[in-house]
Amino acid sequence: MCGIFGYIGKKDPIPICISGLKQLEYRGYDSAGIAGIFQGKIRSCKEAGKIARLEKKIHQEHLNLEFAIGHTRWATHGKPTDQNAHPHFDDKSTIALVHNGIIENYQTLREQLQSEGVRFLSETDTEVIAQLIGKFYENDLLAAVQKTLPLLRGSFAIALIHANHPDQIVAAARQSPLSIGFDDEHSESIVSSDPNAFLISTPNVLFLRNDEIALVQANRIRVFNSQLQHIDKKIERLENDYQAPSKGGFEHYLIKEIFEQSSTIQKALIGRLNEEKATIDFEQFSLSDETLKNVSNIWILGCGTSAHAGWIGTMFFEDIAHVPSSVEIASEARYRNPLLTPNTLVIAISQSGETADTIAAMREAKQRGCKVLGICNVANSTLSREADSTLFLKAGPEMSVCSTKAFSSQVAVLSLFALHLASLKGLGKDEMRRYFNELKKISGHIQQVLEKASLLQTIAKKYAHYDDFFFIGRRYMVPTGLEAALKLKEISYVNANGYPAGELKHGPIALINQKFPVVAFCANEQTHEKIVSNLMEVKARGAPVLAFAPEGAHGISNIVDDIFTLPPCIDPFAPFASIVAGQLLSYYIAKERGCDIDQPRNLAKSVTVE
Ligand code: F6R
Repeated sequence: MCGIFGYIGKKDPIPICISGLKQLEYRGYDSAGIAGIFQGKIRSCKEAGKIARLEKKIHQEHLNLEFAIGHTRWATHGKPTDQNAHPHFDDKSTIALVHNGIIENYQTLREQLQSEGVRFLSETDTEVIAQLIGKFYENDLLAAVQKTLPLLRGSFAIALIHANHPDQIVAAARQSPLSIGFDDEHSESIVSSDPNAFLISTPNVLFLRNDEIALVQANRIRVFNSQLQHIDKKIERLENDYQAPSKGGFEHYLIKEIFEQSSTIQKALIGRLNEEKATIDFEQFSLSDETLKNVSNIWILGCGTSAHAGWIGTMFFEDIAHVPSSVEIASEARYRNPLLTPNTLVIAISQSGETADTIAAMREAKQRGCKVLGICNVANSTLSREADSTLFLKAGPEMSVCSTKAFSSQVAVLSLFALHLASLKGLGKDEMRRYFNELKKISGHIQQVLEKASLLQTIAKKYAHYDDFFFIGRRYMVPTGLEAALKLKEISYVNANGYPAGELKHGPIALINQKFPVVAFCANEQTHEKIVSNLMEVKARGAPVLAFAPEGAHGISNIVDDIFTLPPCIDPFAPFASIVAGQLLSYYIAKERGCDIDQPRNLAKSVTVE
């Protein structure tokens, strides 16, 4: 699972590929590599670790290439070593190939090739593709690729070059995104896992569909189906509003993005609250009022942070719009037999819009006849192209692997959509305006938390040496607590367990002792007395307790060891200020522990394999 990028044109391909790969680093950063042709021979350079290390090695080796393909890897098959880094080659070293996806039957194919005497140099599933193409090659590269693809099970986007064809990149895809772009003069062509990585401002783009094969030359792109018949592809023109990423004076992208939230929340709301009419106005929204009035239930799909936002969404739909709804982890959703009807609305949530599990589950739901609403941050992403309609977060690029501002914006957009449904189903204008007033306070609430960041830094110093934590809450604070726990575990490598507070006594409380702190999210008015009892229970068993609670919350400060106060807020919108406090705590703990905050080990910003 990974990012692939290729360039063919008049310019030096190496800096272009490196810049492209850096744009794709969100798809993995375990290793990187590049290969191309120089004076009729394949030349390559690959290195374990991030792209910066590859860049250094390329420089040391004085690599020169006429055109190139490159790769940034998130390891699936085989450790993140130099040898397992892409590109991979055939036995004769005439083919170099990069791959995103997983070849599920690679073991069988590998054993078969080995029994025919083929030598493998890596542990990857990818190498079988290069070896198969090498085996079938008889002066016709397209034909060799065409023979290989039906043998592969699983998902792939590939780009490859051959020493005998020094003017072309061949690309193919199945279930993994692959876009091909070219400039207006058609003097150069680019292949990329993500069109947002093209460094052309308004590229002409085509997207490869299942089992299509493209022959990419600098001034010409031809696409064929699995029978090698030529297909006329639709060319789209993309507006890439590329901005060079910047930490804006902050030490890490993560802390910058946490601090951006008082404004990103406003961007999610701006222009969408029609105060005069007391309605929600979504731009470029194509689900009709009629369709939405008939929605009988909502099924939300997402992974990780996006699934936590979806969980909060289910509560909005029930509490505000009175529509039954449930959330499902996308990797499980597609293997279930959910009772979907044509009146089920499916909401697929993804910051990147490229998460393979979410996209696969969305496709499954579409096949079953459901309408799919996407909630997404990245324009031109697979999810936004395939959903029936998409609501964008407008949060700007999220660079840190750990998702923060996307979460608060997802929750904000879900609240708007719940209000939209509620108004279609008859919620009164006064009630709508009451919610509008509460929504307008959120940015200020977040700002109040941000202004007390130094207090959280002090608290973090006290808790940073613990290796185990419980994060607990009730109602809206359950997914909020789970999300905060996810932040801590992914950037600090600390065992942070998120639990509904009432569930602790059914087993997990056995773990509690003086070395097992509890972080309690107490900003849910409806269940206030219940969480106070839960705090008593964990305190009685010796746990150090840190509470995030609204100013003036009764009966908490005298039980807990530490308290961070939050601005008072109605229950549905309490997750915003609470999660920002949780994000800051996690950030400062990770910093105390000296972790790689923006690119934690083993992770990728976007998980493009199932
Ligand atoms: C956690 C995190 C992940 C993502 C998940 C889904 O901080 O970033 O859990 O939320 O991989 O990613 P998207 O939202 O891009 O589908």
